[in-house]
Amino acid sequence: MSDLSIRLDGVSLCYRLAKQRIPSFKEYAIHFLRGSLAYEQLWALKDLDLTVVRGETLGIIGRNGAGKSTLLKVISRVLKPSKGTATINGRIAPILELGSGFDYELTGLENVYLNALLLGHTRKEIIAKMDEIVAFSGLGDFIRSPLRNYSSGMQARLGFSIATAWVPDILILDEVLAVGDATFTDRCEERLRSFRQAGATVLLVSHNTSAVVKNCTRCIWLDDGRMKADGKAEEIVRLYMREHGTEPVEHEGGRVPAAS
Ligand SMILES: Nc1ncnc2c1ncn2[C@@H]1O[C@H](COP(=O)(O)OP(=O)(O)OP(=O)(O)O)[C@@H](O)[C@H]1O
Ligand SMILES: [Mg+2]
Repeated sequence: MSDLSIRLDGVSLCYRLAKQRIPSFKEYAIHFLRGSLAYEQLWALKDLDLTVVRGETLGIIGRNGAGKSTLLKVISRVLKPSKGTATINGRIAPILELGSGFDYELTGLENVYLNALLLGHTRKEIIAKMDEIVAFSGLGDFIRSPLRNYSSGMQARLGFSIATAWVPDILILDEVLAVGDATFTDRCEERLRSFRQAGATVLLVSHNTSAVVKNCTRCIWLDDGRMKADGKAEEIVRLYMREHGTEPVEHEGGRVPAAS
């Protein structure tokens, strides 16, 4: 298989936002027939070029609304770029948001089947991995409860356990580690290390910059849909923290704490 995992060439993505609130389908149909539906355009990604090779663990950082989740959705093929091309090689296991691919009325066990089937695994493969998935999730008897009784951290545990039970070519994590407790985060990080050794590509979006430095070999900084910086994780996180004033900054006559 090629060493190229992800390649984006001039990728832009435009969301259409309805200008007026249309409360019913009837009104929608009237506006549609009159040709008076008005939309605003929001360019969430602007002319992005990115190449990721197999085995890289890439951190993606940036402020709220910078375009991180949108970028992950383009790479997962949930959204098609409005401009440019996205080439993705291999099988993807995405966790794009908490609870995606789950049914809240089904039990944890039933959701393992549902979610793993959506990821493209067969019933036989799922049965073979079931015990491991349940053990890794650490959910104990809760695995037989409906998902609506789960906390955010418990949903994240289950989602991560399913997506990583098989080594995918590309694992995509959007803020998944943020809600897990310390024990689970440690186990996730251990699993990410083993994935890296197995040659999987990992994309990790996180506002936890120390998790990015700890787990990622490389990092990109998105700002208003554009690539602001790309390089070694430590270096990019340092630049980002400096700009956003979350780190003590050098000051004439000594170090002063940054304004919060
Ligand atoms: N479904 C959507 N429809 C319209 N606009 C959207 C949609 N999803 C996101 N946006 C807009 O696109 C921009 C980028 O959003 P995105 O969710 O990618 O940001 P993000 O970097 O993941 O932010 P956060 O750190 O808050 O998760 C934002 O301005 C947001 O308002
Ligand atoms: Mg997001």
